[in-house]
Amino acid sequence: MSGSGRTVRAAVVHEVGAPFVIEEIELAPTGPHDVRVKMAASGVCHSDLSVQKGTIPFLFPTVLGHEGAGVVIEVGEAVTRVAPGDHVVLTWMPACRRCFWCLRGQAMLCEVGLAESLSGAYATVGGTRLVRGLGTATFGEETLVPEGEVVRVDPSVPLELAALVGCALATGVGAVWHTAHVTPGSTVAVVGCGGVGLSVIQGARLAGAGTIVAVDQVAAKLDTAKSMGATAVVDWSSEDVVAAVRAHTGGRGADFGFEVVGRAETIRTAFAVVRRGGTAVLVGAGSPAEQVSFSAFELFVDAKTVIGCVYGSTDADRDFPVLVDLVRQGAIDAEGLVTRRIGLEDVNDAFRAMEAGEVARSVIVYGDDGRKR
Ligand code: APR
Ligand code: ZN
Ligand code: ZN
Repeated sequence: MSGSGRTVRAAVVHEVGAPFVIEEIELAPTGPHDVRVKMAASGVCHSDLSVQKGTIPFLFPTVLGHEGAGVVIEVGEAVTRVAPGDHVVLTWMPACRRCFWCLRGQAMLCEVGLAESLSGAYATVGGTRLVRGLGTATFGEETLVPEGEVVRVDPSVPLELAALVGCALATGVGAVWHTAHVTPGSTVAVVGCGGVGLSVIQGARLAGAGTIVAVDQVAAKLDTAKSMGATAVVDWSSEDVVAAVRAHTGGRGADFGFEVVGRAETIRTAFAVVRRGGTAVLVGAGSPAEQVSFSAFELFVDAKTVIGCVYGSTDADRDFPVLVDLVRQGAIDAEGLVTRRIGLEDVNDAFRAMEAGEVARSVIVYGDDGRKR
């Protein structure tokens, strides 16, 4: 593949477990169905860390980042969805609109769009082909993606906030609205209050949940959870979580329990805090190596529902404009999710801060030189 001659700075992970290295990469020529986007901002999501560490299997070398927004600067000759100058949010699950799942309204399970994106030409570094990380590669000054991965949004919303729609808000709010179908007055417990869990809390508030119990092991996360609509908080590190959630939900447990960590023990917790006949929604992205066990008896006797949840059952074309509009109106507090604005060169420290529980979200803001503004 010969490159476009267009070089940009990006955070490359050369192999599983290796750090993010800021390097000049060469973008491929913009193909007929491709869109080149000048990134304005990219959130730093836990799934990128899970891919870098190998918890979630992926292909290397790669440029990660999947929660981004920017401005279209070039489109291929067959592109009809967007034009240069459009503000866009990227989706890591582009819908092909023709596969079994797309035709049944389950675009988040599309098996064609992401596969095409991962196999398509994206960029090279030092002559070596790079994989477009999670299909989007937003940890770079520019990205090149198939047109199905960009959704045009209202340009009046700051792109630093619109970026969060691309994963945290789509996943978290979508889990409540499209996966669980939470109804007004419901009781909800949320285990894990990072960027995604806080978005679940906001979705539950917007859905009219009556009681929203936030569970985390970091006190600062619980404070943020309250500001986003949690009506009660439980500290995993010092409290009996199941007893505490029951105390807030009439002694029965919650109608809905959302797991937003991706670990066996928190999946067990989300199941345990749900009432008999209630629903546990598994939002966190876990490892293929980690097993969760349930007794045959408990699964039967309590008649609980356990739902897997990919990307909040999001259809980006349907949902992104709605979420961006709620951000514009202030009905969704996106600014409250942003703990730090950082430069691309700070990405390794951003993941350290995430693991240390210091941040809800770090957001990379790309200035002209990719550094802090
Ligand atoms: N009990 C309670 N809270 C916990 C526990 C636990 N045992 N372990 C971790 N947490 C909390 C952390 O303190 C943190 O606030 O879970 C939160 C996870 O947040 P982030 O690391 O910011 O992750 P986030 O980006 O929100 O993603 C959460 O969703 O999309 C997936 O891959 C993603 O699996 C990840 C999950
Ligand atoms: Zn499809
Ligand atoms: Zn994500």
